[in-house]
Amino acid sequence: MNEIIKATETFIKTRFAHDSSGHDWYHMERVRKNARKLYELEQQGDLFIIEMAALLHDYIDEKLHDSPDEAREELIDFLHTLSISDTDLQHILEIIDSISYKGGNEAKLKTIEAKIVRDADRLDAIGAIGIARTFAFGGKKGQLMYDPTIDIRENMTIEEYRNEKSSSVHHFYEKLLKLKDLMQTENGKKLASERHEFMVQFLNQFFKEWNGEI
Ligand code: ADP
Ligand code: NI
Repeated sequence: MNEIIKATETFIKTRFAHDSSGHDWYHMERVRKNARKLYELEQQGDLFIIEMAALLHDYIDEKLHDSPDEAREELIDFLHTLSISDTDLQHILEIIDSISYKGGNEAKLKTIEAKIVRDADRLDAIGAIGIARTFAFGGKKGQLMYDPTIDIRENMTIEEYRNEKSSSVHHFYEKLLKLKDLMQTENGKKLASERHEFMVQFLNQFFKEWNGEI
C-alpha cells in the first residue's frame, strides 16, 4: 500500500508543482493530512481509499484543465499502472467525481470515505489558508480583489459560477461562508467552526479598512 501511495505522491507532485491558483502540490498534501486527521477522529472508513482520493482529488478538476476528459483518461491510465483492485479504483474515481462544490450544485455523497475527503478539501478552502487561496485564485483568474458594483449571487448554475463576473470577496459569500453548514462529518463540522470565525473576523476588518473606518 505504501508503495502505491508513494507512486501517487510523485505523480501528483509532478503534475501540480507549478500551479499558482491555490491548487498546488501543498494543497493536495494538506487535504491528505486533514483527511487522515478526520479518519482518526471519526474512526471510520478505509484509510487507503481516503489517502488516494485526497491526493488525486483535483486531478480532473474542470476549472484547472482545458480538457477534463483527457485528464480523466490520464488518471485512469495512471491508476491502471498500480496494483489496486477494480473495486478500489472505481471507488477512488467516484469520490474524485463527486467532490466539487460547483456553485452549490454539488453531488450527494454515498460513502464515509467520500464524506471525509470532501470535508478535508473544504477545511483547506476556509480559515487563513482559505483566505490566502482565494486571493491567489482570484489574481490568477484576473478578477478584482473586491468589486462593490457586482451583486452577490445566491443561486447559480455551474456555468454562472465559473464564468460570470465576480470578485474574490464575493467568493466568501457565494461559497466559503456556506461551507461550515455543508460539512458531512461531525468532526469536520467542529474543525470548520474555528476557521469560519476567522474568516468572519477577516471580513469585518476588511470592510472597516475598505470604508476608511480605521
Ligand atoms: P471545488 O474545488 O470544490 O470545486 P471551487 O471550484 O469552488 O471548489 O474552488 C476551489 C477554491 O478555488 C476555492 O475554495 C477558492 O479558494 C478558489 N476559488 C474558486 N472560485 C473562485 C472565485 N470565483 N474567486 C476566488 N477564488 C475562487
Ligand atoms: Ni481541492
